[in-house]
Amino acid sequence: MPVYIQRGKIPHRRHTVFKSPQGNHYYEEHISRLGFSDIYSNVYHVHMPTRVAKVGKFRPITLEALEGEHRHRHLKSFELKPDGDWVTGRRPMMFNNDLILGTSSPVRGTADYFYKNATSDEVHFVHKGKGVLESMFGRLPFDEGDYVVVPRGVIYKMTFESDNNRVFFVESFGPVDWPKKYRNQYGQLLEDAPYCERDIRQPEFVEATDKVGEFPMHIRLRGGIQEYLWGHHPFDLVGYDGFYYPWILNIKDYMSKVGRVHLPPPTHLTFTGPGYVLCSFCPRPFDFEEGAVPIPYAHSNVDSDEVIYYVDGSFMSRKGIDVGSITLHPYGIPHGPQPGLLEASLGAKETGELAVMVDTFNPLKVTKVVTGIDDANYPYSWQY
Ligand SMILES: [Fe+2]
Repeated sequence: MPVYIQRGKIPHRRHTVFKSPQGNHYYEEHISRLGFSDIYSNVYHVHMPTRVAKVGKFRPITLEALEGEHRHRHLKSFELKPDGDWVTGRRPMMFNNDLILGTSSPVRGTADYFYKNATSDEVHFVHKGKGVLESMFGRLPFDEGDYVVVPRGVIYKMTFESDNNRVFFVESFGPVDWPKKYRNQYGQLLEDAPYCERDIRQPEFVEATDKVGEFPMHIRLRGGIQEYLWGHHPFDLVGYDGFYYPWILNIKDYMSKVGRVHLPPPTHLTFTGPGYVLCSFCPRPFDFEEGAVPIPYAHSNVDSDEVIYYVDGSFMSRKGIDVGSITLHPYGIPHGPQPGLLEASLGAKETGELAVMVDTFNPLKVTKVVTGIDDANYPYSWQY
């Protein structure tokens, strides 16, 4: 839930006549969540946003689940070859009724279509690579370490200006939010929150593109992608205001907290969504109580599946993990540091780990995408 912004030209009063200097009407569109009862933006188009030139084909997307096996998993995502763009390059690895998550490795460049996810908010954690997200709200350059958050319904495209791009993504069927415990009664981030409004990067406004023609639009629905041709260029806003637009938080702007003894992952909470939390494990000093064990204790979060995407540094509580690895520790059995890590951690003063964790409150299904990158020995890495 970002903050109110105003860009370009807007009329002083909502829902009133608003014309160009040539006397042509601009067309207002109200984009809102939860019907008319949550955050929204009012945007002003050169052309009527409702115009469709042609209804194209529907391409079904089915996530094929691996059935029948319950175990800890270690997936080596960097073994997947770069392919596709920021949409077609997605490799969904896990899903439930609340989200889809996986990685993408888009090749340099972009696509010749515009894209709207009509069913999910998207979080693209840019591990490697840089580029620019262009949307109806303007330009949003992104770089390594960025959480690029695109609310459901935003028309956008991502262009990568680098090779060897690596992205960990979450498609969240409900809104991606800043945790309530970090906000005051007015929504402002609290003084002791781990990030503040200054850390949130907002779109740079770009003047409206006024072009008529046929513009391919791919709209993600629950069951697949519906193709359309838009009758005009979709980035035709002369202005907008509100709370609804894409934004970025960089993981290195996340201010971790440290305790006298080990603090649990909710300390590292970054975003919330219906059915999950997302946390950032960042470099920090270790706990300072004499005798404190810096690494976590084994734990059974009996309601949760835990997914960790490993970004950089030596992850203090795991053995055999590489940059780009993903672990899944499902509900039903405990997990924790492997043998020898407790002893090795004693006396350590700091950790350089950088990782993103998603804890879901409903069990995840693993897709067939993981076949071939799944370390079958990982479930036995706790043997001694
Ligand atoms: Fe855990």
